Amino acid sequence: VFRNKLEFFAAAKVSTSIPPPMIPEIAFAGRSNVGKSSLLNALTRQWGVVRTSDKPGLTQTINFFRLASKLCLVDLPGYGFAYAKEEVKDAWEELVKDYVSTRVGLQQVCLLIDTKWGMKPRDHELIDLMERSQTPYQIVLTKTDVVFPIDVARHAMQIQENFKTNKSVINPVMMVSSKSGAGIRNLRTVLAKLARY
Ligand code: GTP
Ligand code: MG
Repeated sequence: VFRNKLEFFAAAKVSTSIPPPMIPEIAFAGRSNVGKSSLLNALTRQWGVVRTSDKPGLTQTINFFRLASKLCLVDLPGYGFAYAKEEVKDAWEELVKDYVSTRVGLQQVCLLIDTKWGMKPRDHELIDLMERSQTPYQIVLTKTDVVFPIDVARHAMQIQENFKTNKSVINPVMMVSSKSGAGIRNLRTVLAKLARY
């Protein structure tokens, strides 16, 4: 499914402008700058359709992309972005939370965590919300190329252990680098199963 042409089709700044659900959807969530947009590019091997930036807070709307009529990939604005005004930040957060907890056809949320920084309170908040709304999610450690492999494994194990104690079921933590390509094929295989054929 990831071989299909990636096509941008909608952007939403408020809940009311979110397009009606048509095809299975996978959303990419996480703090600003964790590499959400880059991961979309790496998964589809189509650079330039999704914009990325080294300045946090580039993606400010919920952006909808489709792979033919089989799968919709959703690039969510990141949270925890330091430069935005409080009220702007709150509006983004409400938009994301609303989408994540109520969206029909949302098959999976990939929650991206920067391997170097680990989980932050905002990440836990989103996890709690997804648990409450029974939204399926998958934790993905990103930018594994910038830390030693042993530390990547340690981080993944920590997260997994953490969940064992207080949460019911969780998909195994996945590890990727959009830069080196490590783990991308694996994630692609997992996500492709959610597409419509
Ligand atoms: P917002 O839109 O601000 O929420 O950020 P984002 O999560 O979409 O991050 P984006 O994909 O724009 O990437 C942020 C920065 O991290 C860019 O400078 C990327 O080049 C860099 N980056 C993304 N993925 C990787 C990776 O796997 N390894 C390394 N080393 N850098 C990465
Ligand atoms: Mg982005």
